[in-house]
Amino acid sequence: MDSMLVTGGCGFIGTNFVRYLLKESDFSGRVINVDKLTYAGNPENLSDIEKDFPERYIFTKTDICDQEGMARIFEDYRIDTVCHFAAESHVDRSIVRPDAFIQTNIVGTFNLLELAKANQGRLILFHHISTDEVFGSLGKEGFFTEETPYKPNSPYSASKAASDHLVRAYYKTYGLPITISNCSNNYGPYQFPEKLISLMILNALEGKTLPVYGDGRNIRDWLYVKDHCTAVWTIMKHGKRGETYNIGGKNEMENIGLVEMICDVLDEHQKREDNLPRRELITFVKDRPGHDRRYAIDFTKLTRELAWIPEESLETGIHKTIQWYLDNQEWVSRIKSGEYQSWIEEHYG
Ligand code: NAD
Ligand code: TYD
Repeated sequence: MDSMLVTGGCGFIGTNFVRYLLKESDFSGRVINVDKLTYAGNPENLSDIEKDFPERYIFTKTDICDQEGMARIFEDYRIDTVCHFAAESHVDRSIVRPDAFIQTNIVGTFNLLELAKANQGRLILFHHISTDEVFGSLGKEGFFTEETPYKPNSPYSASKAASDHLVRAYYKTYGLPITISNCSNNYGPYQFPEKLISLMILNALEGKTLPVYGDGRNIRDWLYVKDHCTAVWTIMKHGKRGETYNIGGKNEMENIGLVEMICDVLDEHQKREDNLPRRELITFVKDRPGHDRRYAIDFTKLTRELAWIPEESLETGIHKTIQWYLDNQEWVSRIKSGEYQSWIEEHYG
């Protein structure tokens, strides 16, 4: 793997992956990061990487749906490996405006697959990043395995399911060397403050209300983002072509318990000026339509076949994440300001 195309490298997980790849892993090639820079993409996340690895890190602002632009990138950089993160990723946005989800997640993935096929002679691997949400919702018992039938419930998860099927079909039909990973909910540094954990941390720090959907008893299986990155790299190096791997953290938690935990940890780190506990900011709000009740991942296959296990527990991961947001207040205020969008316009058009 000499020349790796990473799509969506300026987003939350992509940023963490590029950082891990270049700074910590045994990858020795170069990364070509292609990102459209939507509201969720922030090239500043990797500005130190750009400086420290001038020979090994290249960024280009391109839409994965742009056939000509992407064809040029495959050609110019002699891409031999693809790690595909780029997506519209937020369920609530997909409920209000699904259009971009269909375009980027389905058509964009199709475009990349076609280009990978056109460059198949050189291609070592196309790794597709997906979610456990494609499996739908669990009741009180049971886990998602790689054999669980797909039953997506939101426009987001349906679009990811469609892209997974396309990737698998390109393996079966054209012999494209692919792997797929379906991961549970991530949290950690650089997460845009719209997903549960990042939103709650920042609202709690600002003394804003903490909106918990429905009865707050929905369960997610949380994974610290660095653990996702090590799992993806493990699969890319050792995974069997054509196979799917589930990635999870064995960290199931009800939303309300998690939000209370965030409040308590924040109180420990930094008391409110009025000394009141942050739990009093919690407000139950109208439920999300089609809200999946429970996700829980069985990642036995990844442990048994590729010897991967997560390092962080939810407690250690939450502490690290809160510390990161406290240490990076400038990042937070930049990403929340219009100033950041105009900076992108100015630099990248
Ligand atoms: P994110 O929304 O933070 O980042 C997505 C990135 O993709 C952004 O930088 C955005 O600018 C870029 N992008 C969007 N449309 C694009 C396009 N048309 N062309 C090029 N770039 C485009 O998302 P994330 O949380 O980092 O998720 C990354 C991937 O991981 C997604 O495929 C998502 O489905 C998957 N995933 C996420 C989670 C999670 O908990 N966040 C869990 C499992 C899987
Ligand atoms: P989210 O972070 O949007 O991830 P996903 O929907 O992809 O699992 O939401 C995680 C859980 O938190 C989900 O059950 C919805 C809930 N939630 C809230 O209760 N309040 C919020 O403000 C958000 C963003 C999510």
